[in-house]
Amino acid sequence: MDDAFLRIFMGGDIFSDAGIDVIEKKLKNLRQKYSIDFVICNGENASGGNGLLEKDAIRIFKAGVDVITGGNHIFEKRDGYPFLATEKRVLRPQNYPSGVSILIEGEEETPGRGFDFFECNGKKIAVLNLQGREYMAASLDCPFRTAASCAKQAAESDALLFIDFHAESNEEKEALALFLDGKAVAVCGTHTHVQTADERILPKGTAYITDLGMSGVADSVIGSDAEIVIKRNLMQVLYKMENAVGETVIQGAIITVDKGKNCAISIERIQF
Ligand SMILES: [Fe+2]
Ligand SMILES: [Fe+2]
Repeated sequence: MDDAFLRIFMGGDIFSDAGIDVIEKKLKNLRQKYSIDFVICNGENASGGNGLLEKDAIRIFKAGVDVITGGNHIFEKRDGYPFLATEKRVLRPQNYPSGVSILIEGEEETPGRGFDFFECNGKKIAVLNLQGREYMAASLDCPFRTAASCAKQAAESDALLFIDFHAESNEEKEALALFLDGKAVAVCGTHTHVQTADERILPKGTAYITDLGMSGVADSVIGSDAEIVIKRNLMQVLYKMENAVGETVIQGAIITVDKGKNCAISIERIQF
């Protein structure tokens, strides 16, 4: 592809071993087929369906992911906290309490950080991970204000800003994307594991999709075994969930960026 452009793949939540396996099997092909320069994938469900451990993050990086973003589930494996606190290529939502970069034992801080700068083909890339507040359990700082502050820093550094907005509410996702239109190259939603068909370039040049979907077992209930989830619904008890097995897919979107103008020129929804 022309040097004036970059192509970035943003992938939905990688769910359990099945999700990591499909990334290992197919991501290199996808990178090659679509001339992808940089890959950002959500990894909050990578370790057994919730949380992210170092060993699984290493597999994901080796498979060709450059930055792993997170969400509400990324904190569920406490053994992963020291890694989360120190690995630059793993982000968790920036609007969690404290925002400190190092976990200090005995203090109640959220490990990790949600905003950082990377480099791709001579161009600075800023990645921001945020979490929504509507229909989500955690009580977090305002994602809009956090985004505005990070967008300002990205602009001052002449960096292309990519945002994984991990949220349940479509309304909150669209509102944040339009709030940042022209300030971010892309605002892509994650968390629901269901890919939406509303990808578009917003009026001021930001690429948007409400949800990127999931990498994992296609024939499942958001990654989990369907039969068990049906039982949970019928019985209304906390029947233990199991991860699904079966055919796997990678879902996400490819964003083509004009490096000179710092804006997206296209967004293409992918199921691979
Ligand atoms: Fe998820
Ligand atoms: Fe989530």
